[in-house]
Amino acid sequence: MFDSLRPQPADKILQLIGQFRADPREGKIDLGVGVYKDATGNTPVMRAVKAAERQLWESETTKTYTGLAGEPAFNEALSRLVLGPAIAAERIASVATPGGTGAVRQGFELIRMASPGARVWVSDPTWPNHLSILNYLGMTVAPYRYFDGDTRAVDFAAMMADLAGAKAGDVVLLHGCCHNPTGANLTLPQWAEVADLLERTGAVPMVDIAYQGFGDGLEADAAGVRLIAGRLPEVLVAASCSKNFGIYRERTGALIALSDPSRREVTQGTLAFLNRQNFSFPPDHGARLVTMILTDPALRAEWETELEEVRLSMLALRETLARELRDLSGSDRFGFIAQHRGMFSRLGASPEQVERLKAEHGIYMVGDSRLNIAGLNARTVPILARAILATGV
Ligand code: LMR
Repeated sequence: MFDSLRPQPADKILQLIGQFRADPREGKIDLGVGVYKDATGNTPVMRAVKAAERQLWESETTKTYTGLAGEPAFNEALSRLVLGPAIAAERIASVATPGGTGAVRQGFELIRMASPGARVWVSDPTWPNHLSILNYLGMTVAPYRYFDGDTRAVDFAAMMADLAGAKAGDVVLLHGCCHNPTGANLTLPQWAEVADLLERTGAVPMVDIAYQGFGDGLEADAAGVRLIAGRLPEVLVAASCSKNFGIYRERTGALIALSDPSRREVTQGTLAFLNRQNFSFPPDHGARLVTMILTDPALRAEWETELEEVRLSMLALRETLARELRDLSGSDRFGFIAQHRGMFSRLGASPEQVERLKAEHGIYMVGDSRLNIAGLNARTVPILARAILATGV
């Protein structure tokens, strides 16, 4: 039977991990996969996570199954972290999922069940795995223009023009903050215009928020999704704890579905059903740590402090890189790096230039020239800046 299997396309982001590891050069620089690294190149276990793990080790008395939807306390705490206090609990259905990707997958499956012919509008570009999962599920993808390759900012007029074609029964996928792969984000007034458009067209928004706290801060990064949640009757949110809690391998996330209170119970039941079909119970360890951190004032304060340190360190790297490039090139054409937010910026290099950066300088980034800012440090910023200019970007 397995004779019929054909090689699957390699994931362009994950492929880089192996290539980087296999590269024997000492000065190689990894700006590929979206993982936070500190100045020493380490991805630390956050202080609050370590403290919560110690407490959990002492207090946990069973490893029996949790609920199909995960622990209610986790769903409640994460929903509030993302949505804030204003959304009525009667509208919120939520399940824990294996990471943010699990939430995205469950969200797409819910859409396919609820609206079999739905087109899912995705930003061009978007995280490649959005497209991969949609294709795998046989769903229809409708791209909308998003990024202006010249200014490296959001092309909002083009985005709105394309999204005017969305219809009731369609879904519009939005990045809650820290757009992956571009780093270019909507302003709050632009979110309000998107909400107007969604109201007019009847399309349902799905917000993928994987980097809350990495852009302008925990509250500011959620302002767009909160605005959408307050305005639209039906909203899907895929939330990830991988990055902002630094618990990548624990696979911790949630799919949240907002509906009319009269539909909440059946929506919640459908989400739990989908969990059961795909993996049964969601992973619990990371979810439990997140719940402890979000509900214990001391742990939460420690976590917020460290998250803010992480955010500010990435912001400082952005500013240093933009300054270095300005000084070396004598132009402001890389100023967008300081304007972008989150882990990523799309540099605007051609695939050939990206290959040269790898071959000639040992600098690894995704082929579309997405670079992970957190992969840099004070020593490597000038090296990258010189390589970028030497490659003719
Ligand atoms: C990324 O975009 O690099 C991260 O979200 C990791 C992944 O799973 O692709």
